[in-house]
Amino acid sequence: MKISIINGPNLNLLGTREPDIYGAKTFIDYLESLKEAYPQVEFDYFQSNIEGELIDELHRVGFSADGIILNAAAYTHTSVGLGDAIKAIDTSVIEVHISNTFAREDFRHTSYITPNAKGLILGFGLASYRLAVESFLNA
Ligand code: DQA
Repeated sequence: MKISIINGPNLNLLGTREPDIYGAKTFIDYLESLKEAYPQVEFDYFQSNIEGELIDELHRVGFSADGIILNAAAYTHTSVGLGDAIKAIDTSVIEVHISNTFAREDFRHTSYITPNAKGLILGFGLASYRLAVESFLNA
């Protein structure tokens, strides 16, 4: 099974960025633990701070991956283009967030991803990604 993980803006700074909200682990370290826990999964990882690059990546993997785990970060709340890209591809997308966005500012309660996603997992810290992997494996 091929699973692509796509992370949006500022998630390259996980580990140092607002650790009280996002934790103290880098995503690269977390990804290593995922690879160890799921040797049967072929993980592909992409991160960008640029909206168009995230759309290009969805187009690139969206006709061949078995599943996509997308944390669009701040673009979740603003990007019609990312929402449309999910509609345009074949592969199912699970939207994830590290924090519980509904427990935070009002502007984080809107998502252009959710209506087009297979499902939404949020608020479990980095374990949100693992739960998304489990969901694809048990689908
Ligand atoms: C986030 C939540 C977003 O509101 C925020 O802009 C992020 C991270 C999360 O994973 O909790 O950058 O997507």
